[in-house]
Amino acid sequence: MNKITAAITAVGGYVPDYVLTNQELEKLVDTTDEWILTRTGISERRILKGEGKGTSDICVPIALEICKKRGITPEEIDLLIVATVTPDMTFPATANVVTDKIGAKNAFGFDISAACSGFLYALDTGARFIESGRYQKVMVIGADKMSAIIDYTDRTTCIIFGDGGGGVLLEPNTEGYGVVDSILKSDGHGREYLHMKAGGSVKPATLETVQNREHYVYQEGKMVFKYAVSNMAEAANGILQRNNLNAENIAWLVPHQANKRIIAATAQYINLPEEKVMMNIHRYGNTTAGTIPLCLWDYEKQLKKGDNIIMAAFGGGFTWGASYIKWAYDGDKIGK
Ligand code: UT7
Repeated sequence: MNKITAAITAVGGYVPDYVLTNQELEKLVDTTDEWILTRTGISERRILKGEGKGTSDICVPIALEICKKRGITPEEIDLLIVATVTPDMTFPATANVVTDKIGAKNAFGFDISAACSGFLYALDTGARFIESGRYQKVMVIGADKMSAIIDYTDRTTCIIFGDGGGGVLLEPNTEGYGVVDSILKSDGHGREYLHMKAGGSVKPATLETVQNREHYVYQEGKMVFKYAVSNMAEAANGILQRNNLNAENIAWLVPHQANKRIIAATAQYINLPEEKVMMNIHRYGNTTAGTIPLCLWDYEKQLKKGDNIIMAAFGGGFTWGASYIKWAYDGDKIGK
């Protein structure tokens, strides 16, 4: 019997309606549209507005779109994995909230916390459940409501992040389509440069932590940039070498959308021309675990059965990695 692989059989995505433009940020902090565009490539990002709305409200439309496209009901989902660093609550897992909200009565679920690499970690984890032969339909979503943990008085972070997410359905395949290989890495030393200071068990919330603005993303951008460029490029190159891939036989690079300069450096390192690199950072900014599936969602119509796709990410933790996917269907037949 042929080996079972985990094929991606549908993609969904969601971004909230509210558009936070660079011009609006110019009114909040000491910045300019020109600085943001040239240093990051971002023009606008989406913000989830409305009381009581959290990351699960980003996941629900994604999950329902995937079910609709694939022609299945939520009851058919066996497992839901949500990659996020902005869960609805510390516990229970956002995956549990989502399964309840969509009526996925037969699914179990859990969250994965790996910041901007979360989708890659979750995708590879989900693939193992499919490959085991015990599960038929595993949904993997990467989503973040970054506006919940961003300080809109800090010009070094508020210009980068946005809310949104995307997801995929994984199903068994015996023709070799799907998740072929992954390199996943982490180095906890990097937490020094990118973290949230309070709200965890080390420093629970107090009046003081709130007054000191410690419940927001803290980032030393220059250091993160340096590690992001070298690690993302190395992981992408590593997966190419291991699978005898090169610029000619790769159809697409799907890079985490943190900064267009990091994306360009990664593509350059593996000699990939710009037209093979997915990019939507200008419209959505950095949605953390959401960026890679949001790219797949935006580009789905252009994907063809058999395409070799490389995904690469770097983020808080530090976490980073790259995955090689063999695309399982013609996107123009089902894309948005
Ligand atoms: O996805 C998770 C992982 N995160 C990342 O991958 C982010 C990696 N880092 C970056 O993308 C970049 O480091 C940033 C976009 C965060 C910053 O860009 P940079 O080119 O590294 O700027 P910098 O931090 O070196 O700052 C250069 C100057 C500084 O002024 P001085 O000290 O030279 O006078 C900053 O104060 O730019 C200033 N600056 C700004 N100026 C206008 C920082 N933020 C802004 C701003 N508008 N928003």
